Amino acid sequence: AYGDLLLQCREREDWAVDDVTTLLSPPTAQDKIALRLAAEAARQETLGDVVDVRGAVEFGNECRKDCFYCGLRKSNRHLTRYRLSEEQTMQAIEDLYNMGIRTIILQSGEEDERATASIVDLIRTIKSRFGLRITLSLGERSLADYHAFRQAGANNYLLRIETTDPELFRRVHPDDDLEERMQHLIWLREAGFLLGTGGLVGLPGQSISSLAQDILYWRKLGANMIGIGPFLPAAHTPFSQLEPGDLDLTLRVYAVTRLLCGRTFIPSTTALASLHPEGQKLGLQWGANSIMLTHTPEEVRAHYHLYQNKAKVDLDFACQSILDAGRQIPPYLRWTQKEERY
Ligand code: 5AD
Ligand code: SF4
Repeated sequence: AYGDLLLQCREREDWAVDDVTTLLSPPTAQDKIALRLAAEAARQETLGDVVDVRGAVEFGNECRKDCFYCGLRKSNRHLTRYRLSEEQTMQAIEDLYNMGIRTIILQSGEEDERATASIVDLIRTIKSRFGLRITLSLGERSLADYHAFRQAGANNYLLRIETTDPELFRRVHPDDDLEERMQHLIWLREAGFLLGTGGLVGLPGQSISSLAQDILYWRKLGANMIGIGPFLPAAHTPFSQLEPGDLDLTLRVYAVTRLLCGRTFIPSTTALASLHPEGQKLGLQWGANSIMLTHTPEEVRAHYHLYQNKAKVDLDFACQSILDAGRQIPPYLRWTQKEERY
């Protein structure tokens, strides 16, 4: 019966939450292998074996919100707050450009509206100097900001829904409203961005059927990118003592997302790499097709403290995950494997 459901993934249009919940819960070890292989076949057919590598610069960690799970939350007084200058940010971007990377992600906490002009300037400078594709990951901002960023040349915007369970969303986001967050994604699309979204696996009280609903939401939205990470406890947050999300469940969410969301980009996330030493490789073997490395200056890197034990996903780490997963390094990347000694 599980195998029948897997076969339906190719054509079936309307999915009930119950069936997606079943897909997420293979009853036997064999069924679990079948899920992974089906996801890998779908990924292989739609996107091939090359893993797309993108580079993020975390240019500031100030945040006006207080999400219970996140180390950057404004009530965390134990964190050193920083904001890179335009020169520092451009240096990091130039490094990424020299690695051969073609898509960069500008990421920060949710800054206040006064930051808008400096971000618009940054986008223009990056476009004129390097012509890179630009993804923004800056949280919820005004409709006017979204248009200004798009006009300045940014291409993609990443805004995770985190969870589509209204009760759970409210419990972990003291400042946010689920409907509003969904409206922001519509605004972003209307402003002309390619949409990235995604969510967390393992929030307290999150059920499998709630994860099934997240996947159906991403599918309906037609997201171009879906970033999925396990919840990881962060020091000095209300959730610091909770258990991290489950590796196995996170991988099953990757696979079912690949099966139901088609050609979408699924990164094997830093959170997955931080949960387990082989997490990033495993993500690539369960439906993911890209990696977002981080290239934040060494002096401030530790302050972008979303959660504890964050893995350092640099160029070497990303390429090692790709090779370990048996996949291909993209030809545009300038990376040579360190010589094997024996
Ligand atoms: N564990 C895992 N992911 C987290 N994020 C924030 N805090 C955590 C955490 N404790 C993710 C959220 C958010 C992005 C900034 O980082 O999904 O979208
Ligand atoms: Fe701020 Fe985003 Fe962290 Fe929430 S998840 S506290 S908005 S950085």
